[in-house]
Amino acid sequence: MSSISFQNLVKTYRDVTAVDGLTANIEAGRITGFLGPNGAGKSTALRCLLGLASATSGEALIEGKPYSHLDQPLKKVGAVLDSSGFNGALTAGQNLRVICAAAGISTDAIPRLLKLVELDHATRKRTRGYSLGMKQRLSLAAALLGDPDILVLDEPANGLDPIGIAWLRDFLRNLASEGKTVLVSSHQLAEMQHTIDDVIIINHGKLIAAGPIGEVTQGQTLEEAFMRLIGVAK
Ligand SMILES: Nc1ncnc2c1ncn2[C@@H]1O[C@H](COP(=O)(O)OP(=O)(O)OP(=O)(O)O)[C@@H](O)[C@H]1O
Ligand SMILES: [Mg+2]
Repeated sequence: MSSISFQNLVKTYRDVTAVDGLTANIEAGRITGFLGPNGAGKSTALRCLLGLASATSGEALIEGKPYSHLDQPLKKVGAVLDSSGFNGALTAGQNLRVICAAAGISTDAIPRLLKLVELDHATRKRTRGYSLGMKQRLSLAAALLGDPDILVLDEPANGLDPIGIAWLRDFLRNLASEGKTVLVSSHQLAEMQHTIDDVIIINHGKLIAAGPIGEVTQGQTLEEAFMRLIGVAK
């Protein structure tokens, strides 16, 4: 069974078809890049997967189940969708403790995770004073609280400086080497080329290409293949 599968997923908003019959499978223990131009439907598909938007038709499943049917969702799947959900009056550790309390999971991992995302120097600072990159790192720590097998990350490199982007690449590779499954959207194609095993490209809500990165790029760079596949002449 695939870790994540989209089965003929359709999501419409009034007159906009954000996701238009998407079928794709994400395999366990691999890093899959989820790529597409602005407005392609990536975030909408991920929101359907995480139960934050309801599908108009079709399904988005985690190990064969809708998110809402998972027994302990935070132990199965961790997500970074946007980093604006923290309580600015609380410190990083306090925010993470709130999430643990709500999900009924142990707080034991919090110090280790704050060190892992390199925020241990700022643990006493209220998160309203955090930079965008610091909030992204805190979101990654939050996603890992339940030690999930699957991570769903929507533009996690957003706001990270070049050092942070290189750090994120190693971070994701380490997660994959532990056997975790990572689905990550990004516009940073040069960076993704060195990070991902598999790629899914969508445009106008429809699947354009999917498979191991070498098969999809066919000797081109990921950026060249992306331009070719979505029909932008260079
Ligand atoms: N809540 C909403 N209400 C109405 N339209 C929406 C909503 N969310 C997304 N859309 C529309 O659905 C389409 C897909 O948007 P989505 O955010 O999924 O794209 P994306 O691939 O994540 O783009 P980006 O790369 O810019 O993040 C766009 O046309 C967008 O305007
Ligand atoms: Mg998006």
